[in-house]
Amino acid sequence: MDFSFVKDYQMFFVNGAKITVFLAAFTVIFGVALGIVLALMRLSSKKILNVIAGAYIEFLRGTPLLVQLYIVYYGLPVIGIDLPDFLAGVIALSMNSGAYVAEIIRAGIQAVDKGQTEASRSLGFTYGMTMRYIIIPQAFRNILPALGNEFIVVIKESAIVSIIGIHDLMYNADTIRGNIYRPFEPLLIVALIYFAMTFTLSKLLGVVERRLRTGD
Ligand code: ARG
Repeated sequence: MDFSFVKDYQMFFVNGAKITVFLAAFTVIFGVALGIVLALMRLSSKKILNVIAGAYIEFLRGTPLLVQLYIVYYGLPVIGIDLPDFLAGVIALSMNSGAYVAEIIRAGIQAVDKGQTEASRSLGFTYGMTMRYIIIPQAFRNILPALGNEFIVVIKESAIVSIIGIHDLMYNADTIRGNIYRPFEPLLIVALIYFAMTFTLSKLLGVVERRLRTGD
């Protein structure tokens, strides 16, 4: 193995890592926003909202992310929606992640015992108050670990956008590989950088989780 290329190519790793972090961050923000809306639709008593959210979630979880990315990047321009690479990547990733987040939130809320709602309502709390003061704080503790897991998945899955030419970590590893005719070393470094990101996030989430638990 020969790592002497690193000093010439270090900015490829740094810049790629930055793009990957931005991609993941935007995806998490939009994915969670979308996930909350979908979860609320799913939990609502209005049948039509329920069906729409259900269909969306099933469809996005039931088709490959790569196909969804291609539909956004290559398909939409055909009907006049021509998006810049980065935006197409963020949109495809967030639309996909939102479906998973919705299910995480729905399951977290439904996992709170029905007795909690019944007790709260018999004490005179309205539905809104019950949600806000009783259900959501408890659901939050169910949701957080799974949501953290989803954020880690987003970091890793973001590598797929290298295929539409976004200069993320994966794309830059490929560029270096082509330039120096060495596949192993740049990919190894990139794997370690991805791992550093996911491992740090996982440790951070562990800390938050433990804090929440001491609130018991
Ligand atoms: N590789 C999976 C697919 O192609 C990615 C699913 C994304 N998962 C997620 N939890 N956001 O469908």
